[in-house]
Amino acid sequence: MHALIINGSPRVKKYSNTDKILEKILLGMKESGSTGELYEISDRKQWEEIREKFYHFDHILIAIPLFVECIPGLLLEFLETIPARSTDRKPVLSFLLQSGFAEGCQLRCGEEYLQILSGKLGCEYGGTLVKGNNFSIRLVEGSDREKIVLPYKEMGKIYGKEGNFFSVDCKKFTGPEQFPGWVRVLVGLMFKTLAKKSFEKTAKEWGCSKSLKDRPYA
Ligand SMILES: Cc1cc2nc3c(=O)[nH]c(=O)nc-3n(C[C@H](O)[C@H](O)[C@H](O)COP(=O)(O)O)c2cc1C
Repeated sequence: MHALIINGSPRVKKYSNTDKILEKILLGMKESGSTGELYEISDRKQWEEIREKFYHFDHILIAIPLFVECIPGLLLEFLETIPARSTDRKPVLSFLLQSGFAEGCQLRCGEEYLQILSGKLGCEYGGTLVKGNNFSIRLVEGSDREKIVLPYKEMGKIYGKEGNFFSVDCKKFTGPEQFPGWVRVLVGLMFKTLAKKSFEKTAKEWGCSKSLKDRPYA
């Protein structure tokens, strides 16, 4: 199969975690004899070409980073410009929804939305590959980055073979739906202490002069 692949992140290719994930998805697809054409929503110059091609593919994959528990606004803006389907061809539209925090449960609302969205776009739903724990992809290099992104190659292989993400292996790929209680307490504590200090330090380095507790619109 030959798929249209869209990186739905507003971050430019060089800094996009989704891009690094898609590199592995494409590698996996190649291993199962499939190919893909990759486009970026962050580059508005590509929008016209994606629009023209959208309904000419049998398979479309949109990869999306979770932004504030939701779909990035720039991707929604683009999707609103796609004209209604005028051909009989009904592509299978699959999604890859990835995030910074690791628990699968925070992505489920987005997953349900994407299922509805595929119907609204006149496509058949091909499932959503859901996975968190991706904050650090662009911040690390070499083997540290490979450790995070390499597993996506296997998912690319399955997608290339089956044209969707409905398999049990794809469902399992999400990992923990929710952390056990003791981990949540520990993470909460970390955000109140170590992480808070680190956020404050970064804010200062970036020129922020107000407290992070500042609520100018309260
Ligand atoms: C503005 C913004 C909002 C984000 N909101 C969330 C969020 O609600 N939940 C989460 O787990 N990760 C969140 N993240 C983290 C991203 O989903 C994660 O880093 C992702 O891998 C970024 O992919 P990209 O670099 O391709 O955009 C957010 C990141 C940004 C920049």
